[in-house]
Amino acid sequence: MCGIVGYIGEEQAYPILIKGLHRLEYRGYDSAGVSLINAKGELLVYKAKGKVSALEASVEGKDVSGTIGIAHTRWATHGEPNETNAHPHYSQSKNLTLVHNGIIENYKALRAELEKNNMTFCSETDTEVLVQLVEYMMNSHHCDLYTAVQLALKNVVGAYAIAILEKSHPDQLVCARKGSPLIIGVGKSATGRKEFFLGSDATPIIEHTKDVIYLNDEEIAIMDRTGRLEITNLANVKQTPQLVKLQMNLDELEKGGYAHFMLKEIWEQPNALRTCIRGRLNMADKDVLLSGIIDHKDKFINCKRIIICACGTSWHSALIGKYFIEEACQIPVEVEYASEFRYRNPVIHSDDVVIAVSQSGETADTLAAIQLAKEKGAFLYGICNVIGSSIARATHSGTYLHVGPEIGVASTKAFTGQVITLALLGLAIAKEKKTLSDDMFHMLVEELQMIPDKMQWTLEHNKGIDEYAKTFTYCKNFLYLGRGYNYPVAMEGALKLKEISYIHAEGYPAAEMKHGPIALVDEEMPVVVIAPKRGNYDKVVSNIQEIKSRKGKIISVVTEGDTVVKGMSDYYFTIPDTRDCYVPLLAVIPLQLLSYYVAIAKGCNVDQPRNLAKSVTVE
Ligand code: F6R
Repeated sequence: MCGIVGYIGEEQAYPILIKGLHRLEYRGYDSAGVSLINAKGELLVYKAKGKVSALEASVEGKDVSGTIGIAHTRWATHGEPNETNAHPHYSQSKNLTLVHNGIIENYKALRAELEKNNMTFCSETDTEVLVQLVEYMMNSHHCDLYTAVQLALKNVVGAYAIAILEKSHPDQLVCARKGSPLIIGVGKSATGRKEFFLGSDATPIIEHTKDVIYLNDEEIAIMDRTGRLEITNLANVKQTPQLVKLQMNLDELEKGGYAHFMLKEIWEQPNALRTCIRGRLNMADKDVLLSGIIDHKDKFINCKRIIICACGTSWHSALIGKYFIEEACQIPVEVEYASEFRYRNPVIHSDDVVIAVSQSGETADTLAAIQLAKEKGAFLYGICNVIGSSIARATHSGTYLHVGPEIGVASTKAFTGQVITLALLGLAIAKEKKTLSDDMFHMLVEELQMIPDKMQWTLEHNKGIDEYAKTFTYCKNFLYLGRGYNYPVAMEGALKLKEISYIHAEGYPAAEMKHGPIALVDEEMPVVVIAPKRGNYDKVVSNIQEIKSRKGKIISVVTEGDTVVKGMSDYYFTIPDTRDCYVPLLAVIPLQLLSYYVAIAKGCNVDQPRNLAKSVTVE
């Protein structure tokens, strides 16, 4: 949540910061702000409520010069989204400005203490407490900014990524992190001198440099114009910066001709999944090679149980993973909401494998859940998309999705990437445990290889939905039903619709409908039924009949060639036939398209839905 961008070098900072803020806007868009030190040594701050474009409009005609600056796009936690609560925040003397991502949990106690020492506050935010605390430390300990930050952060409980400017030292930029990501980009300006970029993820940095340093928890960095970069931890122990190359291309961050990132990411899925399985499926031997488990086979072969922790869409893919792994590997799998798991003293044994599934790799609850599991001795495996993310680094091993950056707030290609990665993991474990016959194993490998082509087919054959979606503009509720592997797909379809079109939707196991939700069904109620000609097909057909006899509108997802369910439906989507366990990879696509086009018909901002942000780095 929230995006931070920073720059120190020889270029004008403002254009770099604004472009960076646009790239980071998917992380939060309640307000935006920028702070610069100009050539006269003035510490300037400009802020605006709303999007980055509002900030741009508000600075027109004003002085935005300076070769050092920090900027922020906010997802509000403490204090409503307005200009006063927007970052950057000044310290009382206006010698410092600070931007912050995260939550300071003990900010009330700190604020009360600072107020006793005659410090006054303008905003309701925890962030202003942080900048005042740093200034208080500078004054009371007569120390420099760097030392003051160290002292201040020792008193702070919570998560933070911060960047600070000091008016009296216009040639240095200080930043720190704990629990919220922060990346330093190391570039070269036109004169060959080092310049530094800061980002709460790599997206604002990539167009300037691919050389980055991922700051670790409780590390503080200082960068200056001479090209000096020093990192220490809170205990003042010097750290050696590890320079790594970013594996990302700029065009992955552009819409590439699509109206929205979400639509681009839906259409990207066949190629994204081809990249995900490349090198992991060996078709000559019909084999699966997952480097993440090669050195840890014993952990998976001997484990008594697998626990998967995740949130939101990732929790849905985890549930599909559970069905697959239990069926293929005969290992019991529990799927946990990370936010519940971390607070209920769960029973975890040293022979448990705990898997974290997270697109961003930064979700605070998922990170805390695996930290708890680590303390209890479990083996940790991460399934993340963002390379170098906190969860990827906190786990013992893992597999990256490699589906490319996901910018649309509503997750699409990460979901299918997670499902296919969990299937690869299940197959790799099944191979080691010999829980599948050779024939079955080979057949599942062959079929998995065909999924990207079948996804392409699904996209090409379900194009008419944009017109039909207009019918639902005035709907208040939707019901989504599926059985077995498709029950999590029903929940995922409902979540997509809720998130971006603000229509209430519920995903249910189809058979559970008669235990409650059927009471909601009337002629106004669209019911989306995932009804492939597989598994419990006949039972799903009965469920559809039950809905029809109560005049509910049926929108179905059917297998190509099916005439029965088609005939019973008001609208249908077609998918190619595949094995039960892979149907979610195809069935979710029309549901993504349905939610997208309903949201478009309602005039909603698809890529930046209200109240949501991409990466939930706060509890
Ligand atoms: C829904 C969505 C969220 C995320 C959830 C977890 O479209 O994107 O529900 O799935 O916030 O995020 P990650 O996967 O980054 O841990």
